[in-house]
Amino acid sequence: MSVEFLEWLQGTPLALYVGETWFPLVESLHVIAIAIVAGTIFLVDTRLLGLVSTKLPFTYVSERLLPWTWGAFAASVLTGVLMFIGNAVSYYENTPFRVKMLLLALAGLNMLFFQGVTFRSVAEWDLARPPAAARAAGLISITLWCGVIGFGRWIGFAS
Ligand code: HEM
Repeated sequence: MSVEFLEWLQGTPLALYVGETWFPLVESLHVIAIAIVAGTIFLVDTRLLGLVSTKLPFTYVSERLLPWTWGAFAASVLTGVLMFIGNAVSYYENTPFRVKMLLLALAGLNMLFFQGVTFRSVAEWDLARPPAAARAAGLISITLWCGVIGFGRWIGFAS
């Protein structure tokens, strides 16, 4: 992204309004949304790892939690973008911010591969111990989301 575009972005009325007035509220909402994303994903991933709710079918757990995950993820993206535009140039050059975005993309790819490939055989392991590919997806997911949260927290200390 060009510096000219980022400077234009942080000069927009919305960016100035959020940056000057609403940043603390927007960041608080970001943290609440993140807590729901991480909390629901950890419950699904630890079920995949066979650590919790093993008497419940995996689909029973995922169908009830993933709508919350996606809703909270949308809220995280909206509040994240609102914070980003308020200080676009410095966030764009912020290394923890860049690593966080990379880890977010990898977490998305991991989820897409799980949904598109591994989940197809769920009828065979819905109530049994998930196969290695499913357990790996759970472990990779937990690791990546811990990274997203850690680097997210680090952003404010690196600017
Ligand atoms: C679900 C995905 C996300 C997670 C888990 C996440 C995680 C975090 C965490 C833990 C913080 C630190 C909050 C604090 O302690 O004050 C944070 C801050 C932040 N996040 Fe996110 N975030 C997500 C998505 C996004 C997106 C999509 C963007 C922007 C495009 C973004 C931009 C920011 C910014 C700008 C900050 C403020 C840093 C600061 O100045 O303190 N986040 N995020």
